[in-house]
Amino acid sequence: MFELPALLVVGAQGQLGYEVEVLAREQGFSVTALDHAQLDILDSAAVVAALAEYKPKFVINAAAVLNALEPQLASYAANTRGAAILAENCRAAGCAMIHLSCAEVFAGDLNEPYVEDQDPAPLTLYGQSKARGEELVRAALPHHIILRTGWLFGVRSGSFVRELLEQARKQEQVYIADGLVGDPTPAADVARVVLAMIKQLDSGAEGWGTYHYSASESVSWFGFAEAIIATARQYADISLERLLTRPQAQLPMRQRPVNSRLDCDKILCTFGIHQRAWRSGLMQVVRNYYS
Ligand SMILES: NC(=O)c1ccc[n+]([C@@H]2O[C@H](COP(=O)([O-])OP(=O)(O)OC[C@H]3O[C@@H](n4cnc5c(N)ncnc54)[C@H](OP(=O)(O)O)[C@@H]3O)[C@@H](O)[C@H]2O)c1
Repeated sequence: MFELPALLVVGAQGQLGYEVEVLAREQGFSVTALDHAQLDILDSAAVVAALAEYKPKFVINAAAVLNALEPQLASYAANTRGAAILAENCRAAGCAMIHLSCAEVFAGDLNEPYVEDQDPAPLTLYGQSKARGEELVRAALPHHIILRTGWLFGVRSGSFVRELLEQARKQEQVYIADGLVGDPTPAADVARVVLAMIKQLDSGAEGWGTYHYSASESVSWFGFAEAIIATARQYADISLERLLTRPQAQLPMRQRPVNSRLDCDKILCTFGIHQRAWRSGLMQVVRNYYS
């Protein structure tokens, strides 16, 4: 019988790590999922021990720091040094790694979706740390996939969808950043893509490298917020009029590139992976919030 490869998911309690673990189990992978408390990817000895104990064929690095409290690059060490520690030890252990990244490695000043080989020019410390992490993974491990994805949302707390629904429940007015455009992407959909790539790579497909995947239908951040509220109205009495725009610099949020759109042709041409629309994923996440 065809045997699926053993997986190790790190950062397993995050939005993406959680969905990868759930879907991998559903699909019959042998999967070990470790959260931050179980494995700190900055702890080199612990990473070596985990690889030796679980003997994965693929490591999925869903661990990251997205919003560090201290505004310095060192606060994002999980995205840089942590990625490097994982990649170096994957190489030593003979396993491959799927490393997650994002559109924030780009400046966002283009008026079209970014393709994979455009030069990174991050605007923020987070973006810088993700770009540096990518470089370190490429340098340490030939058998890697770097998968940049769009505005991720899922059922875990901390997701923009859940936070917006919380705010809309508690506040009369909710301010949304103006002038940003991107691709909302359900975490469960990215999990599907990660596992589809792993199956093909495990069967000998030659596809190592950097890819973009986001769900289809680019939208403004405000348009996404409107879609969230419109979807929620079947469960709760929330008026769209509660949503107001503000320049992002006036809001307590990580500053995003104006354009976070990703071109997803390469993943289609190499792996045959098609973009799905984000709206059905949104319905599931909103339903989960009210259930
Ligand atoms: N969220 C987005 O909009 C978005 C968009 C594009 C790409 N991405 C990328 O997708 C990946 C997953 O993001 P996400 O949204 O799932 O993030 P998330 O929900 O914040 O999850 C990240 C997880 O990593 C864990 N972590 C942090 N430092 C760690 C360390 N040193 N060792 C082990 N685990 C550690 C965190 O645990 P604690 O919370 O316990 O520290 C958390 O559970 C990241 O690479 C991110 O850059 C995210």
